[in-house]
Amino acid sequence: MKGLGITSVGIAAATWFAASAVAQLDPIVIKGSKFFYKTNGTEFFIRGVAYQQDFSGNGSTTTTTGGTGYTDPLANATNCARDVPLLQGLQTNTIRVYAVDPTQDHSECMQMLTNAGIYVISDLSDPATSINRDTPEWNEAIYERYASVIDAFSNYTNTIGFFAGNEVSNAPNNTAASAFVKAAVRDMKAYIVSKNYRAMGVGYASDDDDTRVELADYFNCGTSAESIDFWGYNIYSWCGQSSYSLSSYEARTEEFSTYNVPAFFAEYGCNKVEPRPFDEVGALFGSDMTPVWSGGIVYMYFQEANDYGLVTIGSDNKATTLQDYENLSTAMAKVSPTGINSASYTPSNSPQACPTTSTWQAATNLPPTPNDAICQCMVQNLTCVAKSGLSEDSITTQFNYICDPAQGNNCGGILANGSTGVYGAFSGCSDSERLSYAFNQYYLNQTATNTQNTSPCDFSGTAQKVTPKLASSCKAVVSQAGSAGTGSITSTPTGGSSSGSGSSPGTTSTSKAAAVILSVPAFDFGILKLAAYVTSAMLVGAGMVLL
Ligand SMILES: *[C@@H]1O[C@H](CO)[C@@H](O)[C@H](O)[C@H]1NC(C)=O
Ligand SMILES: *[C@@H]1O[C@H](CO)[C@@H](O)[C@H](O)[C@H]1NC(C)=O
Ligand SMILES: *[C@@H]1O[C@H](CO)[C@@H](O)[C@H](O)[C@H]1NC(C)=O
Ligand SMILES: *[C@@H]1O[C@H](CO)[C@@H](O)[C@H](O)[C@H]1NC(C)=O
Ligand SMILES: *[C@@H]1O[C@H](CO)[C@@H](O)[C@H](O)[C@H]1NC(C)=O
Ligand SMILES: *[C@@H]1O[C@H](CO)[C@@H](O)[C@H](O)[C@H]1NC(C)=O
Ligand SMILES: *[C@@H]1O[C@H](CO)[C@@H](O)[C@H](O)[C@H]1NC(C)=O
Ligand SMILES: *[C@@H]1O[C@H](CO)[C@@H](O)[C@H](O)[C@H]1NC(C)=O
Ligand SMILES: *[C@@H]1O[C@H](CO)[C@@H](O)[C@H](O)[C@H]1NC(C)=O
Repeated sequence: MKGLGITSVGIAAATWFAASAVAQLDPIVIKGSKFFYKTNGTEFFIRGVAYQQDFSGNGSTTTTTGGTGYTDPLANATNCARDVPLLQGLQTNTIRVYAVDPTQDHSECMQMLTNAGIYVISDLSDPATSINRDTPEWNEAIYERYASVIDAFSNYTNTIGFFAGNEVSNAPNNTAASAFVKAAVRDMKAYIVSKNYRAMGVGYASDDDDTRVELADYFNCGTSAESIDFWGYNIYSWCGQSSYSLSSYEARTEEFSTYNVPAFFAEYGCNKVEPRPFDEVGALFGSDMTPVWSGGIVYMYFQEANDYGLVTIGSDNKATTLQDYENLSTAMAKVSPTGINSASYTPSNSPQACPTTSTWQAATNLPPTPNDAICQCMVQNLTCVAKSGLSEDSITTQFNYICDPAQGNNCGGILANGSTGVYGAFSGCSDSERLSYAFNQYYLNQTATNTQNTSPCDFSGTAQKVTPKLASSCKAVVSQAGSAGTGSITSTPTGGSSSGSGSSPGTTSTSKAAAVILSVPAFDFGILKLAAYVTSAMLVGAGMVLL
């Protein structure tokens, strides 16, 4: 097919809106290491395209829209109407989006995709809220962001699932960060179940570095409650005219032949040779690979500085297809992967063993589930807390001081170590809550052991004394954490306050605090607001005692 000219795109878009809406797509379900259409059991192979403007999967962005640091690709119906027909021209049945804004309305774009038979896999993070490979945390803010994306997309039957991380660990020295990502997988899987959502998968998208085997094994090992539902491989090893064996696709296929959840390419399309011939499409959807792989996602739709685009968007906002688009379209037209029907498929693979090599650092013991209610309880028992409104720099400076072992053992309750698998009971709390905890530990020690210290709660004016007011429902939580903060918390704060205190402003978080799963109302987790949030949590705590 010759490229769709601008005019034909316009017509396609117009007929689009006129077409009667297909209500919903048949959900894609997972059985063993394959995807299937739920209703007829036909195996589903991902013919995917990465679809996000001005965004690199590695977290860097080139422009900012609406203050979120990214452009939500599914929130602008005009753009979706422009692009969906072009995606169809590539026989696309799945798009991958990297950062979506859960506060936006996605219904129009999702309906257009539905009408075109296109499913969605979305990453859960955004550039500002993700698990950092060098300073990994699995905390309230990231949990809340991830859960809100699931909430926003759970109702569309063309949502296949989510990535809880993209290329987080990418070198031997940061493999420990994978413990935090795996905790995110565990908690988001549990979240989907707790909300009674339709079954949707939670997976991980990996780079293709020297720890590839350990990475894949780690995310697949252990109980199914904490391991991934699918593996996405960002793989750029087939460049130009290569072959199944030269590209290392053969070696990768052998490695994944024993994997017990679906594996697919979450990004592919090396551009070292341009225009890209896309010869790898024939291999990926051919008989060598379809028994093991569930297709793949070409990187990417939009032409940008990195030169991976299939389509250029002009300053007039019109789409023009590139040679790569034509080549991919030709390659896609030639393949017709056929698999097995779900009814005649009996999965036989087992989870991989957890990695034990010395290059792999991430512990099998995972960080605790971030829980706002637990953090609020902790803060209620503090006498010395961080002031509200501290700058990020100031918080960092104080952390560096207070957690230096020279100041004593103040931070065991708030630090998390993904290589030893030792996590403080409050390691998932907000920065401000954690700093308050450490200040208070120091304060308690100084007041007990160092009468010379006349200002044990000052820290260059960043701390202040308050009167602790511990709700009765919080006592078990605080005492289980113990005086060093390293105990494991099995009790969940409940208390009778959950419905009774909902009338006055500021108590919303109290009523939600009763839930096992944290459910802070959606708001901007900027560091300043976090500090303000701690203050209001403390006031709420005071209210709870009076009940
Ligand atoms: C199963 O359903 C899907 C989507 O509804 C459809 O595309 C596919 O052709 C069906 N399979 C068969 C064998 O009819
Ligand atoms: C992220 O990706 C962009 C474009 O692909 C690249 O220019 C940049 O160097 C990468 N940044 C990191 C930190 O890897
Ligand atoms: C959609 O995107 C186009 C191009 O970026 C922009 O001109 C338009 O204002 C956007 N529409 C909405 C509703 O944001
Ligand atoms: C890993 O090494 C890189 C480069 O040497 C460094 O920038 C990074 O901070 C290291 N990460 C960790 C977690 O040590
Ligand atoms: C989800 O979809 C159902 C059925 O289409 C609809 O009744 C319900 O209101 C939707 N819920 C949300 C939160 O959009
Ligand atoms: C890709 O594009 C180039 C440049 O026009 C062309 O020579 C080549 O035949 C195309 N390859 C395929 C597989 O379509
Ligand atoms: C108490 O503080 C002193 C320094 O003033 C320190 O040496 C000691 O380790 C601290 N004790 C604890 C339990 O943190
Ligand atoms: C985790 O603990 C090990 C062993 O004590 C230590 O070497 C490492 O630096 C710690 N990592 C972090 C991120 O604190
Ligand atoms: C609350 O903190 C005090 C120290 O200020 C401590 O003695 C007490 O045990 C804590 N409460 C609980 C329930 O652990």
